[in-house]
Amino acid sequence: MRKPIIAGNWKMYKTIPEGRSLVQGVIQKLTGYNEVEVVFCPPFTALSAVKDLTGGTSFGVGAQDLYWKEQGAFTGEISPLMLKDIGCDYVIIGHSERREHFGETDETVNLKVKAALAAGIKPIICVGETLAQREAGETQNLIKRQTELALKDIETSAIPRIVIAYEPIWAIGTGKSSNGTDANEVIGLIRKTVAGIFGNESAEQIRIQYGGSVKPENIKEFMDQPEIDGALVGGASLEIDTFVKIVKY
Ligand code: 13P
Repeated sequence: MRKPIIAGNWKMYKTIPEGRSLVQGVIQKLTGYNEVEVVFCPPFTALSAVKDLTGGTSFGVGAQDLYWKEQGAFTGEISPLMLKDIGCDYVIIGHSERREHFGETDETVNLKVKAALAAGIKPIICVGETLAQREAGETQNLIKRQTELALKDIETSAIPRIVIAYEPIWAIGTGKSSNGTDANEVIGLIRKTVAGIFGNESAEQIRIQYGGSVKPENIKEFMDQPEIDGALVGGASLEIDTFVKIVKY
């Protein structure tokens, strides 16, 4: 049985005090609620403060990116070892906003996935199509390719530590979510792709989330689907009550 995982991607929101009060509020309302694994992904600046509040609890902490080298003259970058140093459990890799605005490619995503795994940090790998790609009927091929390239040369034994997030780009921050059936179909295809490379057992173990305008009102529709193991939540993870409602779907 795969344990559902719901992660809040704060993107470039929340100062340290704001982040603290959000996490404190969520923890207070969800303590003792163990059915779902909950992960906070604040900006780098708030990671340490969030880790201080979640240390010793079942709540996880994730970064939103990393660089693939351990150290060196790479001004502005953060290494896997630095994330490990502050106790990061997860790291989001290849979010569509990074692919679109910061030149992330399938190749850099793969380098980052390998670097995260080598450092003992669990990657949350994002894949997803644009509206134009969807309308051109390219979704299936694109998602298959993104998945294969992200997982290139990964050891089969690492698969249980990997999370994939299917985030159709047209659904991100638009209020226009996908629907349960469509998301389930694409996520089923991702699982099939994993099975094709790593075998059925690995495909049954890997957790795959849906992301894109997830709200308290639509979370159940996604979580009711057999292939969907959780959600990567943007805007709705920034408020205590909406995030708690999503986790308690
Ligand atoms: P929204 O939930 O704001 O649509 O963002 C989704 C997302 O990009 C999570 O990574």
